[in-house]
Amino acid sequence: MTASTLRPQDGQAGQLPTPPGPRVPIALQSVLFATQRHRLLRLLHRRYGSVFAFQVFPERDVVSISDPNDIKELFAGPVTTFHAGEGNQILKPVMGEHSVLTTDEDEHRRIRALLTPPFTGAALRGYRAMVADIAEQEVARWPIGRPFRSHTSMQRLTFEVILRVVLGVSDGPRLDELRRTLGGVIDISSLDIFGWHNARMQRVGRWRRNRELLLRSDELLYAEIADRRVAPDLAERTDVLSRLLQAGTEEDVLTDAELRDQLVTLLLAGHETTATALAWCWHELSRSPETQAAAAKAADDADDRYLEAVAKEAMRLRPVIYEVARRTTEPVTVGGFHVPAGTTVMPAIGVVQTDPAQHDDPETFRPERFLDGSTSTRNWLPFGGGVRRCLGAGFALMEVTEVLRAVLGRYQLAPDRTRREQVKPRNITFTPARGARVIITNR
Ligand code: HEM
Repeated sequence: MTASTLRPQDGQAGQLPTPPGPRVPIALQSVLFATQRHRLLRLLHRRYGSVFAFQVFPERDVVSISDPNDIKELFAGPVTTFHAGEGNQILKPVMGEHSVLTTDEDEHRRIRALLTPPFTGAALRGYRAMVADIAEQEVARWPIGRPFRSHTSMQRLTFEVILRVVLGVSDGPRLDELRRTLGGVIDISSLDIFGWHNARMQRVGRWRRNRELLLRSDELLYAEIADRRVAPDLAERTDVLSRLLQAGTEEDVLTDAELRDQLVTLLLAGHETTATALAWCWHELSRSPETQAAAAKAADDADDRYLEAVAKEAMRLRPVIYEVARRTTEPVTVGGFHVPAGTTVMPAIGVVQTDPAQHDDPETFRPERFLDGSTSTRNWLPFGGGVRRCLGAGFALMEVTEVLRAVLGRYQLAPDRTRREQVKPRNITFTPARGARVIITNR
């Protein structure tokens, strides 16, 4: 383990070495990072230790860190030195320049403060019944006795939930169209992301279609914002859009463009991530009959602590997002190495969460480790950390727990094959390659 020394430098930069790392062409490193990150980062960690450097497009200079002490210090570091918004620039073409995910410092602080109230404890309790209701409706449609892709069902479910939370909508022709166009915008692969950053690619093929879908969803979202501004029941509404329209002061209100960026961000950030976490729950539970039996009992007994432990263990063993990013605005020291300004420092969530130095028997799915005190916010980081920690973490845990209850109360799950599914990077999330296929029977 390295000495924990992540801090802005005080003039002795030249005396420290830079982190070690592979010396292969940037194009090869980029392809491996995009397609095999879950293997590559663990391999480099074994070879070079907890701090190493590599190069990828478009960030270029990247330093991966996986010592919990270093990560803790990075998350607590000055927001003027460590820019998460700049680290998330890859998302800007869709989420926008005002998004809580792509901004930094004062701009980020202002938006984050406005977005926080709808995701605090009291508000979360208010959403629980709605989530349980949507979950019941979705899982009642699951086919008995034949294999199906549970991930697809979870995408439908979490999309419906996030639309209700963010826009407060249920029916209507505009919303049906929004469901279709936003569904298309959200259904993105790594290839699509390349197109976001290249105006010429956007004139052809799938990238042109993506661009058109994005423009159409923007029109629909702006129309929704305009209608909502004058809605007679605005003051009573509890959805995020209505709350944002009433937040702020007279001199500081969110513009339509700022509102649009937050809506798209929440819809994107809150949908695929949660669907993937749930898909991994079904993948793991279907292969662990004893744990599944314990979880079914917890569902019957309303033992939310155990259900939440199942959700957390799936997120540990199968991290939905493999790493987060902070771009440095000045030179820093990390683990005894010199890291220049303009470097993207990446806490490697996936490496920490499967590191045998951090977790006993890390490849085993064992929710009990969340009940016996052997995990903590140092070695379990699926939601990142510090002032940029996932805004929807509490919501996501509540949602996953409710869906676990709805499914395990009704069905028994078995895998369609005993072999585990491969991990497939899909844009920024890491998904089960065959869609978490399961076969269910009634309990
Ligand atoms: C299992 C589900 C989820 C996972 C694994 C997840 C993971 C993450 C991660 C790793 C980050 C980056 C944190 C960092 O840089 O330190 C993040 C940020 C964020 N997430 Fe989530 N997330 C999930 C669900 C949600 C939901 C349901 C919402 C909204 C309803 C949401 C909204 C956001 C937002 C707005 C940010 C940006 C926060 C900021 O930069 O201040 N996420 N999430």
